[in-house]
Amino acid sequence: MEQTEKKKIVLSAIQPTGTPTLGNYLGALKNWKDMADGYDCFYAVADLHSITVRMEPAALRKQTLEMYALLLALGIDPEKNVVFIQSMVPEHAQLAWILNCYTQFGEASRMTQFKDKSEKHPENINVGLFSYPVLMAADILLYQADYVPVGDDQKQHLELARDIAERFNGIYGNVFKVPEPFIRKAGARVMSLQEPTKKMSKSDANTKAFISMLDDDNIIMKKIKSAVTDSEAKVYYGEGKDGINNLMEIYSCCTGRDFDAITAEFDGKGYGDFKQAVGEAVIAELQPVKAEFNRLMNDKAYLLGCAEKGAENASRFASRTLKKAMKKVGFLQLDK
Ligand code: TYM
Repeated sequence: MEQTEKKKIVLSAIQPTGTPTLGNYLGALKNWKDMADGYDCFYAVADLHSITVRMEPAALRKQTLEMYALLLALGIDPEKNVVFIQSMVPEHAQLAWILNCYTQFGEASRMTQFKDKSEKHPENINVGLFSYPVLMAADILLYQADYVPVGDDQKQHLELARDIAERFNGIYGNVFKVPEPFIRKAGARVMSLQEPTKKMSKSDANTKAFISMLDDDNIIMKKIKSAVTDSEAKVYYGEGKDGINNLMEIYSCCTGRDFDAITAEFDGKGYGDFKQAVGEAVIAELQPVKAEFNRLMNDKAYLLGCAEKGAENASRFASRTLKKAMKKVGFLQLDK
């Protein structure tokens, strides 16, 4: 009998906390799309994670649907892969509780994102914010994921997920696949256009610091044109050239050209020409996604239908792992 090779499993998720940035796109979403054909992919809108910061209910609903539409707009086929909304799959919260009991207070305390967010929201340092990475571990481990495509800032959370999986497996035998991060070097950390030593973030108070995936073309060009650079006026990747390094990375991700080719392309030209080219490359990259997003947002019934199917498929897979974990822990089972 012919043996068909089993595809490796990929899981990743993104929070619906606003329109994703060019950083989210180049660091994660573009790779999600690239992996969609060669792997069995589970992609989630992580709305459970989003309530660790206070959100207006209507805004959460709207942004969740928009994020879901955006994932489909990338060209990820919901018939071939499982695209779902986290809160529609109850196994995530259930496994997270179990894993909370296999995570040490000390290790969760070391998470830099927890420390950063606690500083940013001193009025609401809730327990959910603290155990957020454990929920993230549950997201990943439920699907026996081999690879998790993320940006650099999620690396520490992935290491924790691996530690939790190894600890649990060490006690109960092989329950969870120990996942590998999938972090492409280019685009793993897209920096702020205004302070290029800081990560590009959609929560930046200065809107010139980030490009939203749905920004109009002229806004994208304006933001790139006003990006902070240096006074050398020479395009090459080097120390002390954080602004240019960042633009080179963005350009490289959008065109597939390496740094040497980019340096050669702009030899003898100034930053004005370079920025124009970067702006055009970003606009060309995002245009088809924006057009498809706008089309999909006019068909809410289709989106909700896909989300329902996605949740069913995700739950079918996730419930198997959850059952196994529950049995191992010693919860009484009704079925054999
Ligand atoms: P989130 O929603 O903050 O970001 C989504 C993805 O975008 C990446 N990213 C970046 N990459 C490069 N440059 C940047 N400036 C940049 N900013 C963000 C992030 O690394 C991420 O891959 N906790 C996660 C969501 C999550 C998750 C999961 C991820 C929940 N469960 C399970 C993987 C697996 C988060 O808040 O990502």
